[in-house]
Amino acid sequence: MMKIQIINGANLNLLGTREPHIYGNQSFEAFFEKLQSQYSSIELYCFQSNNEVEIIEKIHQVQQYDGLIINGGAYSHTSIAIADALRSVAVPHIVEVHISNVFNREDFRKKSYIAQACSGSICGLGLDGYRLAIEHIVHCRTLI
Ligand code: DQA
Repeated sequence: MMKIQIINGANLNLLGTREPHIYGNQSFEAFFEKLQSQYSSIELYCFQSNNEVEIIEKIHQVQQYDGLIINGGAYSHTSIAIADALRSVAVPHIVEVHISNVFNREDFRKKSYIAQACSGSICGLGLDGYRLAIEHIVHCRTLI
């Protein structure tokens, strides 16, 4: 079975209540349950942490996975350490997701260190970005 790990970083545990005009009003837990039932043939895992070190250590543990989907939250814009961790693992497909459109917000959100260590990024499409990232990883797998 294919294995895909989702990693959510800083403040993403508050999805649903955090700035709902930007991030929507659905909790990630509720959304993730739907994703799991939609993709029941994939082993989907989700990890959230507000702690940079824990995120790095989680990345180190997913060496054998088929794909990794990461939303670093604000760490995207600051963390060279998370970007280097992503470069250190042999996961074939690493996709960055941002729920909001980081390009029509403050300038400091336009730069992502994490994006530079990923195959590509999806932003501004809400939680659907996670589903699209899964679709991409599955699609790439069928090309092998
Ligand atoms: C975010 C965008 C970041 O700029 C912000 O710090 C977040 C969430 C997003 O998913 O849109 O925490 O990564």
